[in-house]
Amino acid sequence: KPRLYSGMQPSADSLQAGNYIGALVQWRDLQQAYDAFFSVVDLHALTQPSIPDELRAKTRRTAAQYIAAGIEPSQSTLYVQSHVAAHAELTWILSTITGFGEANRMTQFKDKSQRYGNENTTVGLFTYPVLMAADILLYQTDIVPVGEDQKQHVELTRDLAERFNSRYGTAFTVPRAVIQKETARIYDLQNPTSKMSKSAESDAGVLWLLDDPAITKKKIMRAVTDSEGAVRFDRENKPGVSNLLVIYAALSGRQVPAIEDEYAGRGYGDFKKGLADVVIGEFGPVRERALALLDDPAELDRMLAANAARASEVAERTLADVYDKVGLLRRA
Ligand code: TYM
Repeated sequence: KPRLYSGMQPSADSLQAGNYIGALVQWRDLQQAYDAFFSVVDLHALTQPSIPDELRAKTRRTAAQYIAAGIEPSQSTLYVQSHVAAHAELTWILSTITGFGEANRMTQFKDKSQRYGNENTTVGLFTYPVLMAADILLYQTDIVPVGEDQKQHVELTRDLAERFNSRYGTAFTVPRAVIQKETARIYDLQNPTSKMSKSAESDAGVLWLLDDPAITKKKIMRAVTDSEGAVRFDRENKPGVSNLLVIYAALSGRQVPAIEDEYAGRGYGDFKKGLADVVIGEFGPVRERALALLDDPAELDRMLAANAARASEVAERTLADVYDKVGLLRRA
């Protein structure tokens, strides 16, 4: 089977709707056809200020949400990034073939460093995409299903793989990003021209997977729309309504035109009520399953340990080959 790799940061107590629709749904649907690796990238999460005990809790919560959403830990390798030492080790090697200017062109770094300010803009934040490249390349990955915002990082990963292979001999499969066109970018409900994000300033426009259903409904009913009053897809002039239509379609499995027809001549209130039902119908059971899994953290930890062992085997093989190729002396 071809290989699939993807991951998410445990940077909040809950995943948000963009993570779910833009990534997790694709993971779930692809896991049968691929030899899939899904990581909770806790080393990446350290690039933003975090409290140690909270990071541990968020790491477990993220893993629980993967499983609750349908990732099968007996079939796919679901593990915690820091449990496999090779990630940090390969990052160093890759950083020695990454151009400073090349890393400096990453738009996510530019955005984040602006938001974080001087104090929190660390070298770790800068080299973050190199760690992401190491994640992907350790597993001889063919495809990387992600949202649009990770595309540039996957492009960098490809460049690094090709550069290493031609300089030192082939050690890596060159991966490609797989991005679902319709759901590549889910927007904030209050601010429908910026993407929905775990680190949004206000949480009023963010739908959390683990939100109480009553809160989910309130957020949807208050979502920003426009004064036209027609349920119609038009990204340019109606970003709020268009975003709600995309969410509706993704979670109901229906097409946007069919939803437009259903709500023709009806107001936004009706449309939002319908959307709230769809979102709660999908997120509700996932939330219940995730909370149940979190009731038994010891069981969750055992599963993560077993999967980390499986991941290490693959990762260590790649790392040993890389160490050899660059000329590091093998320990006798
Ligand atoms: P992260 O944790 O920010 O997001 C996890 C996944 O969710 C997608 N996503 C979205 N998709 C659509 N609309 C949105 N509003 C939205 N917000 C987030 C992201 O594109 C991503 O697929 N650097 C990565 C994590 C990572 C990784 C990797 C991914 C580390 N190593 C290796 C793939 C392969 C990140 O911060 O994602």
